[in-house]
Amino acid sequence: MAEPKVNELMEKIVSLCKRRGFVYPSSEIYGGINGFWDYGPLGAELKRNVKELWWNRMTRMREDVVGLEATIIMHPRIWRASGHVDTFSDPMADCLLTRKRFRADQIEPQSGTAYHYTGAMDPASGKVSEEPYAVLLPPGKPPESARKLAIQFYQSRGLGPVELQGERPEKVEHSQRFNPDNGSLLTEPRPFNLMFKTYVGPVADEDNVAYLRPETAQAIFVQFKNVLETSRQKVPFGIAQMGKAFRNEVTPRNFTFRSREFEQMELEFFIKPDEVVEALCGRVAKPEAAGHPGEPRPDWGWQLWHQYWVEERIRFYESIGLPRTSLEEYWQKPEELAHYARATVDLLYKFPFGTQELEGIAARSDFDLSQHERVSGKAQGVFDEELRTAWGKLAPEVQQRLSESYFQHRRKYLLRAGAAEAEAEKEAREDAAGLAKGQYIPHVIEPSAGVDRLILALLAHAFTEVTSTDDKGRSETRVVMRFHPSVAPMKVGVFPLLKNKPELVAKAREVFEVLRGSMLAFYDDAGAIGRRYARQDEAGTPYCVTVDFDTLGETPELKDTVTVRRRDDGSQQRVPIGALRAHLLEAIR
Ligand code: GLY
Repeated sequence: MAEPKVNELMEKIVSLCKRRGFVYPSSEIYGGINGFWDYGPLGAELKRNVKELWWNRMTRMREDVVGLEATIIMHPRIWRASGHVDTFSDPMADCLLTRKRFRADQIEPQSGTAYHYTGAMDPASGKVSEEPYAVLLPPGKPPESARKLAIQFYQSRGLGPVELQGERPEKVEHSQRFNPDNGSLLTEPRPFNLMFKTYVGPVADEDNVAYLRPETAQAIFVQFKNVLETSRQKVPFGIAQMGKAFRNEVTPRNFTFRSREFEQMELEFFIKPDEVVEALCGRVAKPEAAGHPGEPRPDWGWQLWHQYWVEERIRFYESIGLPRTSLEEYWQKPEELAHYARATVDLLYKFPFGTQELEGIAARSDFDLSQHERVSGKAQGVFDEELRTAWGKLAPEVQQRLSESYFQHRRKYLLRAGAAEAEAEKEAREDAAGLAKGQYIPHVIEPSAGVDRLILALLAHAFTEVTSTDDKGRSETRVVMRFHPSVAPMKVGVFPLLKNKPELVAKAREVFEVLRGSMLAFYDDAGAIGRRYARQDEAGTPYCVTVDFDTLGETPELKDTVTVRRRDDGSQQRVPIGALRAHLLEAIR
């Protein structure tokens, strides 16, 4: 019985999150608001640690990536250029009886007998409804229950007591047209744009419509030229941004996995088109083996850059405690790819509710900058002096081949973007002629990660139940959150062995003061030491330090030493106070 176990595990995780202050429902005292979650004291620290580790690894530790912090509300034309206004929608269907809303493509397919009705009549008033309606019943259920629902439906349309008309049973297999909760027919699926709309300024009309950003990526594209001109970076280089994004999900679900307000960590890494790489290096290196391709080289084409970023991202997850075995790589099939994408790899985590996406790494060609160039009318290409020089030295047949390949790619993009044949031909020729002048539009590799789903993955991965039996044979099950020390919300608990011994307390406060400038430390003197350890295990704190009578010199050779207890195996080690800070800093890296 896998299903109840899965739900049970998620229920335990959700309950721990609430009880220990990782995640609370938003606006809870007002009944909550569906699809919104708040991070409590431990959750806020966990999230901050994860974001800081991502930011350090993706920007500060790299010479070829810089950061950006853009606004959430941007010019609405950005979302036209990106395609979000026209195509960023989910199919939605409503229950005709209860009005509950569903993602039409995610309804569990059902089989049984559908009872169709052509309408109903109210014999008292003579009023008639000709609205068709249907109810799906599971095999073996008598038609009476369908009739009951159908009567409710027609009564909700303003009829009093009704006589149903035209009942017709039909065998149905794997249908997504009925409400799985009550069997009622749903409305026809219709697209529902996921962007939150608002108005900028005091006048709420169409001219002032703006959107809360549905992704952080677009700000990076529209600031590409500013960053290029001010950061002294040259392609290949990347711009990283993390921050809030908003999607009005039809059915938010799976705790924080799919919420309406969430955070993203996105990198847009700009690379040279393969034609430019070949003009400069005489070849385009292609992947030769699976795995990390090593340090970037100038002759890498988009495929190697894509492979590089997939592997870099997996290494990141490993470094924060999600082993490769907990992840899956899913290479989208050609028919699943967005039309501009050349390849997309989804990194999936095995959540208790199923294997789901943590991050997508997409090779997005030059679609994004090209779109913003077309819609804004501002050139987004770059000028590369080395390309101009190299181009002049190429054999005419190589120039011809690379130029033709670039032309074909640009023409295809322009036609897809809606340009007329002649216009696409002319513009693409001009773009191809730009290579000789050192001009091109960069391509992009985009690793795009969701912070909240990563936090959920870390919570699920860390969650461990440990059962122990005491010397009286009583067994107790408790939770240990086995976070990687680098993400653990608190790094160390500091305790005096006893609360009522002022010398122990004074020494423990001293140790706490030494540590807390360098790591998040938590001082606790309440209750038995075993309870204090258990509380820290549940919070995921990797180390606890206890000041005892030996620290004060009861055993002379142990004077000024403390015990350091490891969360994961309960082992204890004596460490001199003078070496404690360095010891812990090393251990929590
Ligand atoms: N920028 C890609 C995404 O938001 O999924």
